[in-house]
Amino acid sequence: MAKQSHTPSSSCCCNPFSCCCSCIFNCICTCILQILCTILFIIAIFTLIFWFIFRPNMVKFHTTNATLAQFNLATNNNTLYYNLALNLTIRNPNKIIGIYYDDFEVRALYKNQRFSTINIQPFYQGHKNTTFLENIVLKGQNVFVLDEDGISEYNKDKNSLWYDVDVKLYLRLRFKVGFVKSSKFKPRINCDLKVPLSVGGNRTSSLYDTNFESKKCGLDWNF
Ligand SMILES: *[C@@H]1O[C@H](CO)[C@@H](O)[C@H](O)[C@H]1NC(C)=O
Ligand SMILES: *[C@@H]1O[C@H](CO)[C@@H](O)[C@H](O)[C@H]1NC(C)=O
Ligand SMILES: *[C@@H]1O[C@H](CO)[C@@H](O)[C@H](O)[C@H]1NC(C)=O
Ligand SMILES: *[C@@H]1O[C@H](CO)[C@@H](O)[C@H](O)[C@H]1NC(C)=O
Ligand SMILES: *[C@@H]1O[C@H](CO)[C@@H](O)[C@H](O)[C@H]1NC(C)=O
Repeated sequence: MAKQSHTPSSSCCCNPFSCCCSCIFNCICTCILQILCTILFIIAIFTLIFWFIFRPNMVKFHTTNATLAQFNLATNNNTLYYNLALNLTIRNPNKIIGIYYDDFEVRALYKNQRFSTINIQPFYQGHKNTTFLENIVLKGQNVFVLDEDGISEYNKDKNSLWYDVDVKLYLRLRFKVGFVKSSKFKPRINCDLKVPLSVGGNRTSSLYDTNFESKKCGLDWNF
């Protein structure tokens, strides 16, 4: 078989109509590519800024103290009675970047189930500054259903008087450099805590100790 060596690779020059078509097509193609490139570039820049600010040695979140005055699950009617107090600190070590915390939602979870949410007033944090959020109190009762494993873990926690409570911060923030403000970012901060019950419980155990140690919170990438 003879090879078809003279087949033109692009359909130019054959007839003017086809030529024009391919021209327009190429043009649209280039256009779309350019737009895509621009979008990717912008995303890359924002990601870079975001990473720069939240890389491990930048903005730091700590839970400096956490106590439970109550954490009672009534299994007969699946009701959780809770009273959680938190102290958080946020350190912004940047020399030039200020941060607007436009939305600041604190969620408390037990066994991956949310049992309470509270919103903190929006605030601005200047550069090289530490914000102390003291006495954030999540208190009340909620319908709370655990499966058998969950209940046995709850009973373990109950005996030790330390509870595996997770605190997640759902933030919406903007950065400010000079007069320039960035668009919004929505990071999620995760604090895996072990929180002591401060009152009540069976205190005869010698293992009992209520000293909560300050705990660093991490950036949660599961957006
Ligand atoms: C944490 O808070 C509890 C109750 O307010 C207090 O008794 C305890 O001393 C505090 N712990 C630290 C390390 O500040
Ligand atoms: C939070 O800090 C304030 C002031 O330092 C303190 O009075 C309060 O007991 C702390 N709360 C907890 C839960 O540690
Ligand atoms: C659930 O049951 C407990 C007793 O086990 C009771 O004290 C509580 O009032 C009940 N809560 C509701 C909402 O019915
Ligand atoms: C941190 O912010 C507070 C309140 O906005 C302000 O009073 C304080 O001077 C700031 N500290 C520094 C070091 O900028
Ligand atoms: C408290 O704990 C001790 C030792 O763990 C146990 O002997 C005692 O029965 C418990 N008391 C109550 C009221 O649960």
